[in-house]
Amino acid sequence: MILHMIDRSAVERLTYEYGGDWEVNHARRLVQTIAAIGKGLAYDQEVVWIAAHLHDWGSCPKWAKEGVNHSVKSKTLAERYLQKAGYPPDRTALVLEAIEFHHGGSEGRSTEAILLSDADALDALGVIGVLREFAMLPCEYRGGYSFPTVLGLRDAYERAQMRKDNSFRMLRLEASRKLARARIKEMDRLFAQLQKETAGCF
Ligand SMILES: [Fe+2]
Ligand SMILES: [Fe+2]
Repeated sequence: MILHMIDRSAVERLTYEYGGDWEVNHARRLVQTIAAIGKGLAYDQEVVWIAAHLHDWGSCPKWAKEGVNHSVKSKTLAERYLQKAGYPPDRTALVLEAIEFHHGGSEGRSTEAILLSDADALDALGVIGVLREFAMLPCEYRGGYSFPTVLGLRDAYERAQMRKDNSFRMLRLEASRKLARARIKEMDRLFAQLQKETAGCF
């Protein structure tokens, strides 16, 4: 029997080309998180690996378009890529479903799709979730340094606080909720310390 395998280094290279370290490491974290929350579940590991790498291609500078949902764009790009790579149609369908619904939105999703959306929501929680939120502040270069422009630390802080509820609500697996509770505890500790150090001036 020939097992069809995707060229993982080619996928990683393309993910890096489109989204740099940000995207590649986001994908790697999702793969790790899925291994943790998927323990004891039956799922196709290669399908989730591929979906983790391709799911945000549509949000990368080369492909992102105002008014176009990045999940839909990523799905189109993935379909094209996997077809060209001769990936089996049944497994391609699983990858595409996981990509299309990686921010939720469909009942009765496959285990692979649930694992991807749970892992993606978990990436917005904990220390990594906070750092991501602060890294996403729009910045400009002045005198050799990068400074936040219109929005400041308060804005990133408030968005990170909102994620605690919004991302938690997205989770479908009990193992994900357990991990999320631990991550939220870390966020609360970090924010309490921030408040203490700054007396709210941030
Ligand atoms: Fe996304
Ligand atoms: Fe993502």
